[in-house]
Amino acid sequence: MNASTLQPNRVLSGMRPTGQLHLGHYHGVLKNWVQLQHEYECFFFVADWHALTTDYEDPRIIADSIWDMVIDWLAAGVNRSSAKLFIQSRVPEHAELHLLLSMITPLGWLERVPTYKDQQERLKERDLATYGFLGYPLLQSADILVYKSTLVPVGEDQVAHIELTREVARRFNHLYGSEADFAEKADAAAKKMGKKNAKLYNELRRRFQEQGDHEALETARELLKSQQNITRIDRERLFGYLEGGGKIILPEPQALLTVAAKMPGLDGQKMSKSYGNTIALREEPESVAKKVKTMPTDPARVRRSDPGDPAKCPVWQLHQVYSTDEIKTWAANGCQTAGIGCIECKQPVIDAINEELTPIRERALEFTDNPNLVRNIIAEGCEEARDVAQETLEEVRQAMGLSYR
Ligand code: TRP
Ligand code: SF4
Repeated sequence: MNASTLQPNRVLSGMRPTGQLHLGHYHGVLKNWVQLQHEYECFFFVADWHALTTDYEDPRIIADSIWDMVIDWLAAGVNRSSAKLFIQSRVPEHAELHLLLSMITPLGWLERVPTYKDQQERLKERDLATYGFLGYPLLQSADILVYKSTLVPVGEDQVAHIELTREVARRFNHLYGSEADFAEKADAAAKKMGKKNAKLYNELRRRFQEQGDHEALETARELLKSQQNITRIDRERLFGYLEGGGKIILPEPQALLTVAAKMPGLDGQKMSKSYGNTIALREEPESVAKKVKTMPTDPARVRRSDPGDPAKCPVWQLHQVYSTDEIKTWAANGCQTAGIGCIECKQPVIDAINEELTPIRERALEFTDNPNLVRNIIAEGCEEARDVAQETLEEVRQAMGLSYR
Protein backbone atom coordinates (compact mmCIF):
# COMPACT_ATOMS: atom_id res chain seq x y z
CA MET A 1 0.00 0.00 0.00
CA ASN A 2 1.29 3.39 -0.92
CA ALA A 3 0.87 6.22 1.56
CA SER A 4 0.02 8.58 -1.24
CA THR A 5 -3.19 6.67 -1.78
CA LEU A 6 -4.13 7.33 1.83
CA GLN A 7 -3.35 11.02 1.92
CA PRO A 8 -4.31 13.89 -0.34
CA ASN A 9 -1.55 15.09 -2.59
CA ARG A 10 0.82 17.68 -1.27
CA VAL A 11 2.96 19.77 -3.57
CA LEU A 12 6.37 21.15 -2.68
CA SER A 13 8.77 23.24 -4.68
CA GLY A 14 11.72 25.49 -3.98
CA MET A 15 13.55 28.21 -5.80
CA ARG A 16 17.05 29.51 -5.27
CA PRO A 17 17.42 33.20 -4.53
CA THR A 18 19.90 34.20 -7.20
CA GLY A 19 18.70 37.62 -8.33
CA GLN A 20 15.70 39.28 -9.93
CA LEU A 21 13.14 37.00 -11.47
CA HIS A 22 12.36 37.34 -15.15
CA LEU A 23 9.90 36.13 -17.76
CA GLY A 24 11.71 32.80 -17.93
CA HIS A 25 10.83 32.12 -14.29
CA TYR A 26 7.29 33.29 -14.90
CA HIS A 27 6.59 31.05 -17.88
CA GLY A 28 8.71 28.16 -16.65
CA VAL A 29 7.74 27.98 -12.99
CA LEU A 30 5.52 30.64 -11.44
CA LYS A 31 2.52 30.30 -13.75
CA ASN A 32 2.57 26.63 -12.89
CA TRP A 33 2.74 27.31 -9.15
CA VAL A 34 -0.20 29.69 -9.41
CA GLN A 35 -2.25 26.98 -11.01
CA LEU A 36 -1.15 24.22 -8.63
CA GLN A 37 -2.02 26.25 -5.54
CA HIS A 38 -5.70 26.02 -6.50
CA GLU A 39 -5.57 22.26 -6.97
CA TYR A 40 -3.41 21.05 -4.09
CA GLU A 41 -2.01 21.91 -0.71
CA CYS A 42 1.19 23.71 -1.70
CA PHE A 43 4.48 24.49 0.01
CA PHE A 44 6.76 26.92 -1.82
CA PHE A 45 10.06 27.92 -0.29
CA VAL A 46 13.15 30.02 -0.76
CA ALA A 47 16.01 27.53 -1.10
CA ASP A 48 18.65 29.68 0.57
CA TRP A 49 20.75 26.75 1.81
CA HIS A 50 20.75 25.38 -1.72
CA ALA A 51 22.09 28.67 -3.02
CA LEU A 52 24.91 28.41 -0.48
CA THR A 53 26.07 25.11 -1.94
CA THR A 54 27.30 26.99 -5.02
CA ASP A 55 27.51 30.62 -3.85
CA TYR A 56 29.23 30.14 -0.50
CA GLU A 57 32.09 32.45 -1.41
CA ASP A 58 29.85 35.41 -1.93
CA PRO A 59 26.57 34.82 -0.13
CA ARG A 60 25.46 38.47 -0.23
CA ILE A 61 23.40 37.87 -3.35
CA ILE A 62 21.27 35.47 -1.34
CA ALA A 63 20.30 37.99 1.33
CA ASP A 64 19.92 40.67 -1.32
CA SER A 65 17.49 38.73 -3.45
CA ILE A 66 15.31 36.89 -0.96
CA TRP A 67 12.69 39.56 -0.36
CA ASP A 68 12.54 40.67 -3.96
CA MET A 69 12.07 37.09 -5.01
CA VAL A 70 9.18 36.60 -2.61
CA ILE A 71 7.63 39.85 -3.88
CA ASP A 72 7.98 38.51 -7.41
CA TRP A 73 6.17 35.31 -6.40
CA LEU A 74 3.34 37.24 -4.81
CA ALA A 75 3.18 39.66 -7.73
CA ALA A 76 2.92 36.75 -10.14
CA GLY A 77 -0.15 35.57 -8.29
CA VAL A 78 1.19 33.06 -5.81
CA ASN A 79 -1.18 33.47 -2.95
CA ARG A 80 -0.50 33.36 0.78
CA SER A 81 -3.91 31.91 1.55
CA SER A 82 -3.57 29.11 -0.99
CA ALA A 83 0.08 28.19 -0.45
CA LYS A 84 2.55 28.18 2.40
CA LEU A 85 5.47 30.45 1.59
CA PHE A 86 8.61 30.17 3.67
CA ILE A 87 12.38 30.21 3.85
CA GLN A 88 14.29 26.95 4.09
CA SER A 89 16.81 28.07 6.71
CA ARG A 90 14.00 29.13 9.02
CA VAL A 91 12.75 25.57 9.22
CA PRO A 92 15.77 23.81 10.75
CA GLU A 93 14.02 20.44 10.45
CA HIS A 94 15.20 20.39 6.82
CA ALA A 95 18.76 20.24 8.14
CA GLU A 96 18.01 17.64 10.78
CA LEU A 97 16.33 15.33 8.29
CA HIS A 98 19.19 15.89 5.84
CA LEU A 99 21.65 14.79 8.51
CA LEU A 100 19.63 11.71 9.45
CA LEU A 101 19.15 10.68 5.83
CA SER A 102 22.86 11.14 5.20
CA MET A 103 23.48 8.21 7.56
CA ILE A 104 21.71 5.78 5.25
CA THR A 105 22.61 7.23 1.84
CA PRO A 106 25.40 5.42 0.00
CA LEU A 107 28.03 7.77 -1.41
CA GLY A 108 27.65 6.22 -4.85
CA TRP A 109 24.02 7.35 -5.08
CA LEU A 110 25.15 10.97 -4.77
CA GLU A 111 28.18 10.63 -7.01
CA ARG A 112 25.97 9.19 -9.73
CA VAL A 113 23.47 12.10 -9.77
CA PRO A 114 24.07 13.61 -13.24
CA THR A 115 23.92 17.25 -12.03
CA TYR A 116 26.90 16.61 -9.76
CA LYS A 117 29.47 16.25 -12.54
CA ASP A 118 27.58 18.55 -14.97
CA GLN A 119 27.45 21.49 -12.61
CA GLN A 120 31.08 21.08 -11.62
CA GLU A 121 31.92 21.26 -15.32
CA ARG A 122 29.67 24.24 -15.95
CA LEU A 123 30.80 26.25 -12.94
CA LYS A 124 34.52 25.61 -13.37
CA GLU A 125 35.49 28.92 -11.81
CA ARG A 126 34.11 27.78 -8.45
CA ASP A 127 35.47 25.05 -6.24
CA LEU A 128 32.56 22.66 -5.96
CA ALA A 129 34.52 19.73 -4.58
CA THR A 130 32.75 20.28 -1.27
CA TYR A 131 30.79 18.04 1.04
CA GLY A 132 27.80 20.41 0.81
CA PHE A 133 27.71 20.36 -2.96
CA LEU A 134 27.87 16.58 -3.17
CA GLY A 135 25.07 16.38 -0.63
CA TYR A 136 22.76 18.97 -2.11
CA PRO A 137 20.44 16.52 -3.90
CA LEU A 138 20.00 14.82 -0.54
CA LEU A 139 19.16 18.17 1.03
CA GLN A 140 16.53 18.42 -1.67
CA SER A 141 15.27 14.97 -0.67
CA ALA A 142 14.97 16.19 2.90
CA ASP A 143 13.07 19.29 1.69
CA ILE A 144 10.58 17.03 0.00
CA LEU A 145 10.28 14.27 2.58
CA VAL A 146 10.05 16.54 5.60
CA TYR A 147 6.58 17.53 4.37
CA LYS A 148 5.73 14.06 3.06
CA SER A 149 5.18 15.76 -0.27
CA THR A 150 3.76 13.55 -2.96
CA LEU A 151 4.12 15.83 -6.00
CA VAL A 152 7.17 17.87 -6.89
CA PRO A 153 6.96 20.20 -9.88
CA VAL A 154 10.39 20.27 -11.48
CA GLY A 155 12.08 20.70 -14.81
CA GLU A 156 13.75 17.90 -16.71
CA ASP A 157 17.12 18.64 -15.08
CA GLN A 158 15.79 17.85 -11.62
CA VAL A 159 14.09 14.54 -12.31
CA ALA A 160 17.15 12.60 -11.15
CA HIS A 161 16.84 14.33 -7.78
CA ILE A 162 13.29 13.09 -7.38
CA GLU A 163 14.44 9.62 -8.33
CA LEU A 164 17.12 9.81 -5.63
CA THR A 165 14.48 10.97 -3.15
CA ARG A 166 12.34 7.97 -3.95
CA GLU A 167 15.24 5.61 -3.38
CA VAL A 168 16.19 7.25 -0.11
CA ALA A 169 12.59 7.12 1.11
CA ARG A 170 12.35 3.47 0.15
CA ARG A 171 15.56 2.66 1.96
CA PHE A 172 14.43 4.56 5.02
CA ASN A 173 11.10 2.76 5.12
CA HIS A 174 12.85 -0.53 4.56
CA LEU A 175 15.27 0.04 7.42
CA TYR A 176 12.95 1.63 9.96
CA GLY A 177 9.38 0.99 8.93
CA SER A 178 8.95 -2.72 9.03
CA GLU A 179 6.98 -4.32 11.81
CA ALA A 180 8.82 -7.11 13.56
CA ASP A 181 5.90 -9.46 13.58
CA PHE A 182 5.24 -8.98 9.88
CA ALA A 183 8.85 -9.61 8.93
CA GLU A 184 8.92 -12.85 10.92
CA LYS A 185 5.79 -14.12 9.24
CA ALA A 186 7.14 -13.23 5.83
CA ASP A 187 10.43 -14.96 6.58
CA ALA A 188 8.63 -18.09 7.62
CA ALA A 189 6.57 -17.97 4.44
CA ALA A 190 9.69 -17.59 2.30
CA LYS A 191 11.21 -20.71 3.87
CA LYS A 192 8.20 -22.73 2.75
CA MET A 193 9.35 -22.22 -0.86
CA GLY A 194 12.47 -24.22 -0.14
CA LYS A 195 15.94 -23.09 0.76
CA LYS A 196 17.07 -22.16 -2.74
CA ASN A 197 13.96 -20.17 -3.64
CA ALA A 198 13.88 -18.41 -0.29
CA LYS A 199 17.44 -17.30 -0.76
CA LEU A 200 16.70 -16.06 -4.26
CA TYR A 201 13.57 -14.24 -3.07
CA ASN A 202 15.47 -12.46 -0.33
CA GLU A 203 18.23 -11.46 -2.68
CA LEU A 204 15.79 -10.04 -5.25
CA ARG A 205 13.86 -8.24 -2.55
CA ARG A 206 17.02 -6.68 -1.24
CA ARG A 207 18.04 -5.55 -4.71
CA PHE A 208 14.71 -3.87 -5.28
CA GLN A 209 14.44 -2.19 -1.90
CA GLU A 210 18.00 -1.03 -1.53
CA GLN A 211 18.85 -0.24 -5.12
CA GLY A 212 15.48 0.31 -6.72
CA ASP A 213 16.17 -2.52 -9.17
CA HIS A 214 12.82 -2.96 -10.93
CA GLU A 215 13.96 -5.98 -12.89
CA ALA A 216 14.65 -7.73 -9.61
CA LEU A 217 11.13 -6.85 -8.50
CA GLU A 218 9.64 -8.36 -11.65
CA THR A 219 11.74 -11.52 -11.33
CA ALA A 220 10.67 -11.93 -7.72
CA ARG A 221 7.01 -11.53 -8.67
CA GLU A 222 7.38 -14.22 -11.31
CA LEU A 223 9.07 -16.44 -8.77
CA LEU A 224 6.13 -16.04 -6.38
CA LYS A 225 3.58 -16.69 -9.12
CA SER A 226 5.28 -19.94 -10.05
CA GLN A 227 5.14 -21.34 -6.51
CA GLN A 228 2.60 -24.18 -6.19
CA ASN A 229 3.21 -25.21 -2.62
CA ILE A 230 2.48 -22.09 -0.61
CA THR A 231 -0.88 -20.91 0.70
CA ARG A 232 -2.66 -17.89 -0.69
CA ILE A 233 -2.06 -16.01 2.56
CA ASP A 234 1.65 -16.69 2.49
CA ARG A 235 1.79 -15.64 -1.12
CA GLU A 236 0.13 -12.29 -0.31
CA ARG A 237 2.50 -11.80 2.58
CA LEU A 238 5.46 -12.36 0.33
CA PHE A 239 4.15 -9.95 -2.28
CA GLY A 240 3.65 -7.29 0.39
CA TYR A 241 7.02 -7.90 1.95
CA LEU A 242 8.65 -7.59 -1.43
CA GLU A 243 7.55 -4.00 -1.90
CA GLY A 244 7.99 -2.90 1.69
CA GLY A 245 5.04 -4.35 3.51
CA GLY A 246 5.94 -2.53 6.66
CA LYS A 247 5.07 0.96 7.66
CA ILE A 248 5.57 3.72 5.13
CA ILE A 249 6.97 6.59 7.16
CA LEU A 250 8.27 8.66 4.27
CA PRO A 251 6.09 8.35 1.15
CA GLU A 252 7.79 8.27 -2.23
CA PRO A 253 7.15 11.50 -4.13
CA GLN A 254 6.51 11.84 -7.84
CA ALA A 255 7.97 14.37 -10.21
CA LEU A 256 5.39 16.62 -11.80
CA LEU A 257 7.23 17.41 -14.96
CA THR A 258 6.69 21.01 -16.00
CA VAL A 259 6.27 20.88 -19.75
CA ALA A 260 6.79 24.59 -20.19
CA ALA A 261 8.46 25.44 -23.47
CA LYS A 262 11.77 27.17 -22.95
CA MET A 263 11.18 30.89 -22.77
CA PRO A 264 13.30 32.52 -25.47
CA GLY A 265 15.42 35.47 -24.40
CA LEU A 266 16.18 38.70 -26.23
CA ASP A 267 18.90 37.04 -28.28
CA GLY A 268 17.09 33.84 -29.18
CA GLN A 269 18.88 31.71 -26.60
CA LYS A 270 16.97 30.47 -23.56
CA MET A 271 16.19 33.39 -21.25
CA SER A 272 18.71 33.33 -18.45
CA LYS A 273 20.46 35.80 -16.19
CA SER A 274 23.84 34.43 -17.22
CA TYR A 275 23.19 35.32 -20.88
CA GLY A 276 22.07 38.87 -20.04
CA ASN A 277 19.02 38.43 -22.27
CA THR A 278 16.19 38.82 -19.79
CA ILE A 279 13.10 40.92 -19.23
CA ALA A 280 12.45 41.27 -15.51
CA LEU A 281 9.05 40.56 -14.02
CA ARG A 282 8.83 44.12 -12.81
CA GLU A 283 10.43 45.71 -15.87
CA GLU A 284 8.97 49.16 -16.66
CA PRO A 285 6.95 49.44 -19.90
CA GLU A 286 9.43 51.86 -21.50
CA SER A 287 12.26 49.52 -20.69
CA VAL A 288 10.40 46.55 -22.18
CA ALA A 289 9.87 48.56 -25.37
CA LYS A 290 13.50 49.59 -25.50
CA LYS A 291 14.79 46.08 -24.95
CA VAL A 292 12.59 44.58 -27.65
CA LYS A 293 13.27 47.41 -30.09
CA THR A 294 17.00 46.78 -29.80
CA MET A 295 16.68 43.03 -30.27
CA PRO A 296 18.69 41.62 -33.16
CA THR A 297 16.63 40.44 -36.14
CA ASP A 298 17.38 38.42 -39.28
CA PRO A 299 20.71 39.91 -40.41
CA ALA A 300 19.52 39.66 -44.04
CA ARG A 301 17.15 42.56 -43.40
CA VAL A 302 19.68 45.34 -43.69
CA ARG A 303 17.29 47.74 -45.40
CA ARG A 304 13.56 47.98 -44.93
CA SER A 305 13.14 46.68 -48.49
CA ASP A 306 15.17 43.50 -47.88
CA PRO A 307 12.95 40.46 -47.28
CA GLY A 308 13.72 38.29 -44.26
CA ASP A 309 13.25 34.82 -42.82
CA PRO A 310 11.41 34.63 -39.49
CA ALA A 311 13.19 31.35 -38.71
CA LYS A 312 16.42 33.33 -38.39
CA CYS A 313 14.95 35.93 -36.05
CA PRO A 314 14.62 35.86 -32.24
CA VAL A 315 11.62 38.20 -32.41
CA TRP A 316 9.75 35.47 -34.23
CA GLN A 317 10.29 33.19 -31.23
CA LEU A 318 8.62 35.75 -29.00
CA HIS A 319 5.68 35.85 -31.42
CA GLN A 320 5.34 32.11 -30.80
CA VAL A 321 4.85 32.80 -27.10
CA TYR A 322 2.74 35.92 -27.31
CA SER A 323 0.91 36.26 -30.62
CA THR A 324 -2.35 34.95 -32.06
CA ASP A 325 -2.28 32.99 -35.30
CA GLU A 326 -3.51 36.07 -37.09
CA ILE A 327 -0.64 38.23 -35.91
CA LYS A 328 1.85 35.47 -36.61
CA THR A 329 0.63 35.19 -40.21
CA TRP A 330 0.83 38.97 -40.59
CA ALA A 331 4.38 39.02 -39.21
CA ALA A 332 5.66 36.07 -41.25
CA ASN A 333 4.18 37.34 -44.52
CA GLY A 334 5.29 40.88 -43.86
CA CYS A 335 8.79 39.70 -43.10
CA GLN A 336 9.16 37.44 -46.13
CA THR A 337 7.77 40.06 -48.55
CA ALA A 338 9.40 43.08 -46.91
CA GLY A 339 5.86 44.32 -46.41
CA ILE A 340 6.53 45.41 -42.83
CA GLY A 341 9.59 46.74 -41.05
CA CYS A 342 11.12 45.11 -38.00
CA ILE A 343 9.99 47.89 -35.67
CA GLU A 344 6.42 47.34 -36.82
CA CYS A 345 6.81 43.61 -36.36
CA LYS A 346 8.04 44.08 -32.80
CA GLN A 347 5.17 46.27 -31.65
CA PRO A 348 2.61 43.50 -30.95
CA VAL A 349 5.24 41.65 -28.92
CA ILE A 350 5.96 44.75 -26.87
CA ASP A 351 2.26 45.27 -26.28
CA ALA A 352 1.66 41.67 -25.29
CA ILE A 353 4.55 41.59 -22.82
CA ASN A 354 3.42 44.82 -21.25
CA GLU A 355 -0.11 43.56 -21.03
CA GLU A 356 1.16 40.48 -19.23
CA LEU A 357 3.39 42.46 -16.89
CA THR A 358 0.99 45.26 -15.97
CA PRO A 359 -1.02 43.34 -13.37
CA ILE A 360 2.20 41.83 -12.02
CA ARG A 361 3.80 45.25 -11.63
CA GLU A 362 0.69 46.60 -9.97
CA ARG A 363 0.42 43.74 -7.53
CA ALA A 364 4.10 44.11 -6.67
CA LEU A 365 3.48 47.70 -5.54
CA GLU A 366 1.32 46.57 -2.67
CA PHE A 367 4.29 44.63 -1.35
CA THR A 368 7.15 46.99 -2.17
CA ASP A 369 5.20 49.72 -0.41
CA ASN A 370 4.81 47.54 2.63
CA PRO A 371 7.88 45.44 3.44
CA ASN A 372 6.36 44.37 6.74
CA LEU A 373 3.54 42.66 4.93
CA VAL A 374 6.02 40.44 3.10
CA ARG A 375 7.89 39.69 6.35
CA ASN A 376 4.63 38.70 7.97
CA ILE A 377 3.56 36.44 5.14
CA ILE A 378 6.86 34.62 5.38
CA ALA A 379 6.78 34.46 9.18
CA GLU A 380 3.37 32.86 9.04
CA GLY A 381 4.44 30.43 6.29
CA CYS A 382 7.54 29.42 8.26
CA GLU A 383 5.43 28.67 11.28
CA GLU A 384 2.94 26.56 9.37
CA ALA A 385 5.70 24.71 7.55
CA ARG A 386 7.49 24.08 10.83
CA ASP A 387 4.43 22.54 12.40
CA VAL A 388 4.28 19.95 9.65
CA ALA A 389 8.05 19.40 9.58
CA GLN A 390 8.21 18.90 13.34
CA GLU A 391 5.57 16.23 13.18
CA THR A 392 7.54 14.32 10.56
CA LEU A 393 10.74 14.62 12.56
CA GLU A 394 9.01 13.21 15.63
CA GLU A 395 8.12 10.14 13.62
CA VAL A 396 11.52 9.89 12.02
CA ARG A 397 13.38 10.13 15.34
CA GLN A 398 11.12 7.53 16.83
CA ALA A 399 11.57 5.17 13.89
CA MET A 400 15.34 5.55 14.12
CA GLY A 401 15.31 4.91 17.84
CA LEU A 402 16.20 8.46 18.84
CA SER A 403 13.30 9.12 21.14
CA TYR A 404 15.04 8.67 24.48
CA ARG A 405 14.27 11.82 26.42
N1 TRP B 1 17.26 22.23 -6.52
C1 TRP B 1 16.26 23.14 -7.04
C2 TRP B 1 16.95 24.08 -8.02
O1 TRP B 1 18.14 24.22 -7.95
C3 TRP B 1 15.59 23.93 -5.96
C4 TRP B 1 15.02 23.05 -4.93
C5 TRP B 1 15.54 22.82 -3.72
C6 TRP B 1 13.85 22.27 -5.03
N2 TRP B 1 14.76 21.96 -3.02
C7 TRP B 1 13.72 21.60 -3.79
C8 TRP B 1 12.91 22.07 -6.02
C9 TRP B 1 12.69 20.72 -3.57
C10 TRP B 1 11.87 21.18 -5.79
C11 TRP B 1 11.77 20.52 -4.57
O2 TRP B 1 16.27 24.68 -8.81
FE1 SF4 C 1 12.28 39.42 -37.34
FE2 SF4 C 1 9.90 40.50 -37.72
FE3 SF4 C 1 12.08 41.70 -38.65
FE4 SF4 C 1 11.23 39.48 -39.77
S1 SF4 C 1 10.17 41.41 -39.73
S2 SF4 C 1 13.34 39.93 -39.24
S3 SF4 C 1 10.45 38.36 -38.01
S4 SF4 C 1 11.56 41.35 -36.52
